[in-house]
Amino acid sequence: MSKNEILTGITIEKLIFGGKWLATASDGKKIIITGGCIPWSVVDLRVLKAKKSHYEAQELRVVKKSPLEVPLPEGFQMYGGAKWLTIGYQDQLKIKSEQVSEAFHHLSNYTVKTIFHPIIASPEIYGYRNKVEFSWGKYISAKEEIHDEFRFGFHAQGQFDRIIDCTYCALADKETNDIFHMVDQFSRASDFSTYDPKTGIGFWRHFVVRKATSSNETMLIFSVNTTYTHEVKLFFTEMVQKLTEKFADISSIYLLENTGKADIVTGNPVLLFGKPAITSTLLGLSFEIQPKSFFQVNTLGAEKLYTEAISFIKNKWGILLDLYAGTGTIGILLSKYFEKVYSVELIESASRDGEKNAFKNDVKNIDFVCGKAEVFAKDFLEKGGKADTIVVDPPRDGMHPSTIPALLSFGAREIIYVSCNPATLARDLEVLVGKTRDEKTEKLPKYSITDVTPVDMFPHTHHIETVVRLALA
Ligand SMILES: C[S@@+](CC[C@H](N)C(=O)[O-])C[C@H]1O[C@@H](n2cnc3c(N)ncnc32)[C@H](O)[C@@H]1O
Repeated sequence: MSKNEILTGITIEKLIFGGKWLATASDGKKIIITGGCIPWSVVDLRVLKAKKSHYEAQELRVVKKSPLEVPLPEGFQMYGGAKWLTIGYQDQLKIKSEQVSEAFHHLSNYTVKTIFHPIIASPEIYGYRNKVEFSWGKYISAKEEIHDEFRFGFHAQGQFDRIIDCTYCALADKETNDIFHMVDQFSRASDFSTYDPKTGIGFWRHFVVRKATSSNETMLIFSVNTTYTHEVKLFFTEMVQKLTEKFADISSIYLLENTGKADIVTGNPVLLFGKPAITSTLLGLSFEIQPKSFFQVNTLGAEKLYTEAISFIKNKWGILLDLYAGTGTIGILLSKYFEKVYSVELIESASRDGEKNAFKNDVKNIDFVCGKAEVFAKDFLEKGGKADTIVVDPPRDGMHPSTIPALLSFGAREIIYVSCNPATLARDLEVLVGKTRDEKTEKLPKYSITDVTPVDMFPHTHHIETVVRLALA
């Protein structure tokens, strides 16, 4: 088999890392498949790479539907951000649970006494996102004979320069979809063009809707490739008026002067309407959301995740390290139980938002440290700092290898590991439990995995969170 050859009649076996799927070719080699497959469907695949050990392939067509496939709910649209809309929700939970259990396969000698709790479902499965980012752009493809200069919706899968129109985003609520449609009409009727990332020319770039569901406040963010000129001002004055007349929950509208090359929502913010921030509550505490603030996108799902993490901590006293803290949500929620909390986060704006959130909630026993967790842990240890409980919530890559020896050296009673990637979670756990150790870590304390709970915060996507409790062995 070589590149571009077609593999026919292949059965999709299971989900593996990063939203990819696994199957077996007729020559016995494994196939790693990119894209939105459904387990047990029979498909034809195009080979993208033929490696010695395996093939990498892309789904071309479905030959036989999977028994797990359900009809697309009426009015909904399939797109890259919600590839699992045609898999029944109970089956999605099963697939995710199995993926987490498999990640622990290599740790089976260390998980004999571990309690694997059932997966926690998202309280809402549609319209659960409190933040939705739409993009403007073009769809130009000589191969498909399409030349459309105005598209507004989402990126075509894996294509940074092609946008597909959104008709209804299943993960956004109805109001967000209605607002999107009004902005769609306005922008199409305008004299401004969509941005072209190849040339850097064009006006419309991104549109973000953020909602604080608990307070019914909605923030709109327009990212456009210009400064705030007179012409732009006239256009936006009318659109802002029409939007705010129709949607009473809109409490804040920003324009971002986004003239940078990178395809990200950034730039100088100009407040066009209302208040600078919206306020969301999470487990009874208030969190302020500015245009660039990080906040968990599934509010009710995040409450489930944090509640599970908090319930895993058996000894709530002493000093808590909240590493990879984002805006300090976990540390702030846990501060009432601990004498002192250190909240460590790399991104300065997130760390500063954390400080503001602590102040807003009258939390005084928390220090916000902006920097790398690996550097903080080493320095803090060298200065004689102690930690009784440690919570880590790293990004998809897991913990930096130098963080783990420092963590182990604290000899904390418990470590709570919140992970968004089962593969890197399993890798880091191998070191924490003592399965893989080197000269540096050989003599350091070992941990037992006592509890594992998968939490689904992202229905209709392959993403899964896992909360793990480790206790000093
Ligand atoms: C999964 S988020 C955790 C968010 C937070 N715990 C929450 O629940 O809102 C991971 C965070 O780790 C931060 N981060 C990434 N690398 C880091 C590092 N080396 N040291 C400290 N923080 C880091 C990211 O900026 C991000 O905010």
